[in-house]
Formats: sequence, C-alpha cells, structure tokens
Amino acid sequence: MALLCLELTGKKIRENIQQVEKYRSSVDLVELRADCLAGEELFQIHKFPLMVSLPVILSIRREETGGSFNASEEERRKLFELGLTGNYAFVDFEAGFQVPSLKEKALNSGIKIIRSFYNLSGVERSALLSSEIPKFEVRSSSTADFLRFIEAVLSLKEEPSCSGRRIFVARGDYGFPSVVLAEKLGSFITYCSAEGRESAHGHSDPETLQEIYRFKNIKRETSLFGIIGNPVMHTRSPRIHNPAFKHLGIDAVYIPFQTDTLPEFMKLMDIMDIRGFSVTIPHKERIIEFLDSQSEAVSATGSCNTVVRRGKKLHGENYDVEGFLDPLKKRLGSERLKGMKATVIGAGGAARSVVFALVSSGVEVCIINRTKEKAEKLAKEFRCKYEGLDESGLDLARIYNNLVVQTTSVGMYPNVDGDPLPEYEFKRDQIVYDLIYIPEETNFLKRAKEAGCTVIGGGEMLLQQAYRQFSLFTGKQYPFNGSRD
Ligand code: ATR
Repeated sequence: MALLCLELTGKKIRENIQQVEKYRSSVDLVELRADCLAGEELFQIHKFPLMVSLPVILSIRREETGGSFNASEEERRKLFELGLTGNYAFVDFEAGFQVPSLKEKALNSGIKIIRSFYNLSGVERSALLSSEIPKFEVRSSSTADFLRFIEAVLSLKEEPSCSGRRIFVARGDYGFPSVVLAEKLGSFITYCSAEGRESAHGHSDPETLQEIYRFKNIKRETSLFGIIGNPVMHTRSPRIHNPAFKHLGIDAVYIPFQTDTLPEFMKLMDIMDIRGFSVTIPHKERIIEFLDSQSEAVSATGSCNTVVRRGKKLHGENYDVEGFLDPLKKRLGSERLKGMKATVIGAGGAARSVVFALVSSGVEVCIINRTKEKAEKLAKEFRCKYEGLDESGLDLARIYNNLVVQTTSVGMYPNVDGDPLPEYEFKRDQIVYDLIYIPEETNFLKRAKEAGCTVIGGGEMLLQQAYRQFSLFTGKQYPFNGSRD
C-alpha cells in the first residue's frame, strides 16, 4: 500500500513540527527538506526524527532539482553527515550525488537510500536493480508531459526483473493524478504538502487526499473518473462525486485532469482506463469530434459536458441543459415555463445550452450580448430576438422580463464587483438566474434579491448536472439530497 508522505518545507524546525502535529493522523511519514531551513536551524537536523516520532526522509535539494540549497557540495556533504547521525528512516540522494562514505554511513545506520532521478529517459536498469529505492520525479507542464510520464511509469512497471520498491512523482497541476493514484502506478510513496504550499493546492494536502480522494482506499483495480478542463484545479466536482462513491461503497475515484490538448488526453484515457469524465471550459465543443455517439442536446448545442466509455466507444451528453432546467422546474413546474418570456445575457458556450433548454421548453427568448454579431448568430439558429448589451438591449430585456439568465463571466471570482447590466432595474415578480457559482451570490443576483426577485445561483445547476453525470458513470442515483460541497 502506497505511503503518504508530508513534505516539510518550513524555514524553521518549529514550523515543521507544527505541520506534523496538524497532519499526524493523516500521513505515514514526513520528509524534512533541510534545504528550506534557515541557516541557524541546520545544526539541529539530526534531532528532528526524535522530535516528530514518525518515520522521516532527509533530503537536501539543490536549486537545479527544485530545492533551495545553494552552498557548496562540501557543505552539503557535511550536512548529510550530521543528519545521518540522527534516527532517519530514509535519506534522499540525487542520482549524481555519489559519496561512498555517506552511503556506507547510511547503510550502517539502517537508513534506507532513496536515489532521485529527475529525468525518466535516463534511467539505468542498474538503478532499478540496486538495493537503493529509485525515485523518478518530473515536472509535468502539459498533458503531453504527463502522458510521457505515465507511459514511462507503466513500462517500468512491466519490467519483470525489477520488482523492488520505487517512487514515481509528477509535479504540478498536470501531474496531480499521480499523487492520488500512487498505488495504481506502483509508487511506494506519494508526496503531499500542507494546504496552500504546493501547486495543485486545494487538492494535495493530506486531509483532502484522505477525506475527499480516499487515498488509502485506492487499489490497482479502483475505477477511474475525472474532469478535464483548463484551468480545472478550482473544480468542486471531486467533492460532489467522491463522497457519493464512498457512501454507496463503489470502488471508484474522481480526479481533476488539467488538460491543454485533447488528443493526448484521449491517449491517457486509454492507457489509464478512465471510464468517464466531465468536460469543462475550454473543451466542451472540441471534445465532440472524439465521440462515437452523442445525445440530441449535444448535437443541438454543439457542446458536451459529460463523456462515458462504453467498451471502446465514447458517448457524450450535455447535462448543462437539464442541469440548468432542473432548478427552474423545481420552482415553477415544467408547464409554467411554456409561454414565458426570457432574456439571456451572453452568447457564448454556456448561453447556447441555456437558449436550447429554454426554447425546447416553450420559452420565448431574447439574447443580448456585448458582441451583437454573436447574439445575432445564436438568435438566428434558435429563432429568437437579439440585441447588443446597450440601450436597445435594455429595452428588449424590459419586454422579455419573466426570467433573466446571466451567462457571461462578469461578476465571477476574482472580479466579483462586475455587473453585466448595471442599468437594468429588476421587478419583484421576476426569476433571475446567474450561472456563476463562485461567488454563490453575484452582485447581479444581490441586486435582484433586494428587488424581491426569486434568485437562482449557478451552484444548483452545477449540482444537478453532476447528479446526472453520477448516474451515467455508475448506473446509480446520486445518494444525497443536496450539496456535499
Ligand atoms: P462560456 O462557455 O462560459 O459561455 P464563452 O463562450 O467564452 O464562455 O462566452 C463568454 C460570454 O461572456 C460571451 O457572451 C462574452 O461576450 P462577447 O461575446 O462579447 O465576448 C461574455 N463576456 C465576457 N466578458 C464580458 C464583459 N466584460 N462584458 C460583457 N460580456 C462579457
């Protein structure tokens, strides 16, 4: 079973001990990155293992390998010598750091050597066969990088003569799945960091790995689901799907895959056996060319937010459409939608799904958008009225006024002060729907609420489409009645 190791990069020993105390119950061991310590702290490094009473890895990384140590090699040797008089479980030496006296000292003290390679192609078979634990660490800065990493890891796993322990690490947002899937990849250790310290933050702290991703429960046969997007690490979807897998006893995990290029992701999907995935910006349109079949909503909107594998075939759905309608139907019933007049603000990808959903429900729609030509194009396709985001647009919106749907990114975190239509005055019997879910209540919705309107935030749509995805992925109904955020 892969071990969870907390990387300690504090400047002070005391700071590192506080981190260990905070996460003690979630991790199996810790790594003291002595290169991050302030100079005056270094003379204590041999005492550190006794201070934390957990197995500890000692490492002193140079800048070239992602560390902060910039004194001479002689200094580094001396520091390792001091450290190795302490009760460390492991010491991490870079591939080129070959000092026989230190190696001997480590072995005589029962300290196991981790040998770090920062380049997957240069791995020698002798490294795999030695008594040291080889660690392969790369930074993944694209989907292609991560694909290369996974291919190399899987081919090393196949080596029949090399059955010993080894460690695989892909750093960065693109590499995040390797953190969760250490056991699946055959990595002896996975590295995590205190909240907010590493890239992929919000995901790779020990508590999130244990509680949301159930790191310790992942086995080689655990089914894999995920979400692709760029950016995607802000996603809340793992917090919706993973607790439901747990609740229903389904052996599966749902992970964010930061994805810049789709052809490489498709190869990843094949070799990692990803069973299904959610699709977010900017891939909702371009994913369609990879599908073997698609729902009517995908064909009509040219947008797909859910893909499931059926054998070798890929099927696409657009649950944004029904996910958008669900909260409206909950408040109005589907019959009352018919004949209503609605203004849709925006004419991008999200607006397409909204306009299709409304028109198919018998709503009369007008589209107003900053770029009038885009409003015109969408409006002609769905036979609606349109205008720019200006005086004429305001006039039209005053007529199409039962429902107002805000689909632009104006008001979204971090630019939360934005309002796409500040001159618009709400009336109390209107329904106002903003697709943005961070923040939960945009300025636009706040104004509507103050005027007495019924307001709906984007969080509800996010949940509704996720519930449908969950059913498609698992064949089971989403088990919770409400948000698991
Ligand atoms: P999505 O898939 O989320 O809809 P999109 O396709 O990029 O994303 O569409 C973004 C929408 O937000 C567009 O309607 C865009 O207006 P333009 O067509 O004029 O670009 C709208 N939008 C983005 N920033 C805006 C701003 N500052 N003011 C008004 N509208 C804005």
